[in-house]
Amino acid sequence: MPEFDAWAPYYDFIHHGLPGEVEFYVKMAKAHGSRALEVGCGTGRICIPMAKAGVAVTALDISSGMLALCQEKIAMAGFLPAEIELVRADMRRFDLGCTYPFIAMAYRTLMHLLTPDDQAQCLRCIRRHLEPGGVFACNLWMAKPSSIPPAAITGVEVPLELVGQHPVPGENIVLFHFHAARYDEFEQQIIEQHRIQERDLRGHILRQQELHLTRAWLTRREMEHLVYRCGFRVEAVYGNFDGAPLGPDHKEMIWVLRAV
Ligand SMILES: C[S@@+](CC[C@H](N)C(=O)[O-])C[C@H]1O[C@@H](n2cnc3c(N)ncnc32)[C@H](O)[C@@H]1O
Repeated sequence: MPEFDAWAPYYDFIHHGLPGEVEFYVKMAKAHGSRALEVGCGTGRICIPMAKAGVAVTALDISSGMLALCQEKIAMAGFLPAEIELVRADMRRFDLGCTYPFIAMAYRTLMHLLTPDDQAQCLRCIRRHLEPGGVFACNLWMAKPSSIPPAAITGVEVPLELVGQHPVPGENIVLFHFHAARYDEFEQQIIEQHRIQERDLRGHILRQQELHLTRAWLTRREMEHLVYRCGFRVEAVYGNFDGAPLGPDHKEMIWVLRAV
């Protein structure tokens, strides 16, 4: 997936995850044994802390760029009490030849699959990799049509907006991040445009990269139907990583699903 390879060098500067996310997945993994699978591991934000906590992780991603950075970060982490095995695979169709007591898919990764068929293929694949009674946890954006700004509906040109400035440690470079999003309500997709400018300390643009990302949203009810179809029982749905039951004002849905 070339779009994720293009993202990889900027990913850690721009994406810091959600409050309590890492701790939640590490705690869940530890509670279910000493082995886990992470689907869509990216640069290792979740799988490295899992290994630090003594959980042996298989970490899967489709992007060789993300996996290369993850490998670098594993090397830099020094001694890890448990191993991380990196696997390049598509989360819609992988066969690792083994099962796990716990599988994690953090940071809205399922939203990268744009159709119900792709989403179901992925969930069934995950289900096949769970031990009997094993647990799968993932988090998704809590989709609410009322939260979509009217100006961002399909067809309306939305200008890029500067949303962040990220200094690159030791390099005298600052990454300027511009973003615009359109929402296709019919397809339930967010079509995002990102521009990353690498600027020197005087503000001169050294390099500019245009990045595109399309993600799909699932409502709470759609997710409920989908997971039942794919062989899961809903154990809990939280609205934050502290374990508060999902309510109408939450921005995130955290699904804890058991294999049936
Ligand atoms: C939002 S990032 C999450 C990365 C990491 N888990 C984190 O929390 O920072 C989504 C990841 O999913 C990967 N991904 C997207 N589509 C995929 C697919 N079809 N199969 C496997 N990985 C995929 C991307 O390459 C990216 O690394």
